[in-house]
Amino acid sequence: MTYSKIIGIGHFVPERVITNEYLESIMDTTDTWITERTGIKERHYATYGKDTNASMGTEAAKIAIERAGLTPQDIDFIVYATITPDYYFPGSGFIMQRELGMKGIGVLDIRDQCSGFIYAISTADQFIKSGMYKNILVVGSELQSTFLNHTNEGRGVAVIFGDGAGAVVMQATDNEEHRVISTHLHADGTYAEDLYVKDPGSSRPKRFYDDLVDDNTTGDVFMNGSVVFKHAIVRFPEVIKEALNANGFKPEDIDLLVPHQANLRISEYVRQQMGLPEDKVFNNIQKYGNTTAASIPIALCEAWESGRVKEGDLVCLAAFGSGFTWGSALIRW
Ligand code: UT7
Repeated sequence: MTYSKIIGIGHFVPERVITNEYLESIMDTTDTWITERTGIKERHYATYGKDTNASMGTEAAKIAIERAGLTPQDIDFIVYATITPDYYFPGSGFIMQRELGMKGIGVLDIRDQCSGFIYAISTADQFIKSGMYKNILVVGSELQSTFLNHTNEGRGVAVIFGDGAGAVVMQATDNEEHRVISTHLHADGTYAEDLYVKDPGSSRPKRFYDDLVDDNTTGDVFMNGSVVFKHAIVRFPEVIKEALNANGFKPEDIDLLVPHQANLRISEYVRQQMGLPEDKVFNNIQKYGNTTAASIPIALCEAWESGRVKEGDLVCLAAFGSGFTWGSALIRW
């Protein structure tokens, strides 16, 4: 039986740090409001002319490939999760492929928002288990700062999001112990418009640019924050329990839960619901904000680098986000 395992991990965040105090100086917000509602103290923003979605993905990928002991030429396939590609199309995975000199191998772009990395891991796992590919590079990268409305109208969303990228290399293994044990994916399109960006969409009779004269906010992120929050705190525990139940584990068997970094209050609520002690849940939203598809690989990478993920650990990844989408991945490291 062939399984997949993570053999290398890396992350990259752009160097420009945007503090809550800086946001206070450009919009009607406060460090207290942001900290109390979200836990976020600062986030990183890309620098125009230096960082792109693909360049951040490339940097994270280089580290992951090197730590896997491979070269880009050893990779058979790329799965790239993002909702903020450099271009409307083609996706940033193609640009990263070019930058890494991996011409010819397939690239699959995934856009499942905050659950994108879980969907990407699951997809790579299926390709490896089927025997189609041996080494797959899985990336989550987001350059969201240029989508944010940094005026008072956009403050409810702008203070939350940040930029960055994370990557893992997944490899085929016949080792039944150390592997991706299972992945669980869900969605409910009923709530598609509770967290979305309308344009550039095709749901209008003419070019959306022509309408910008009347309404220049249709390219902004719209978020019905309280609805998202209420669903997130139900779906996170549900999908984590689904992963545990499917494999005969109990919450206390988890060595580390790495939740998508949506909001520190959400992570804390989930931790309490699962009955986990504080040291079994990894959070770094305080430093990076919500980096959507990049948040889980950035967090997992930092957890691994700091020794919080060790050989033999049972690691659970879980996400919830726009779509609505949600999912989990259970891994024996
Ligand atoms: O990755 C998945 C995607 N997103 C999420 O998981 C987010 C889920 N939702 C949340 O985390 C929370 O709903 C938020 C943090 C986004 C908002 O917290 P909230 O407690 O739901 O606040 P609210 O939107 O109900 O706003 C409360 C007040 C409002 O003022 P009034 O109407 O009570 O006078 C807002 O205008 O806070 C005001 N407000 C702000 N004040 C200062 C909204 N944004 C800001 C801001 N600074 N940045």
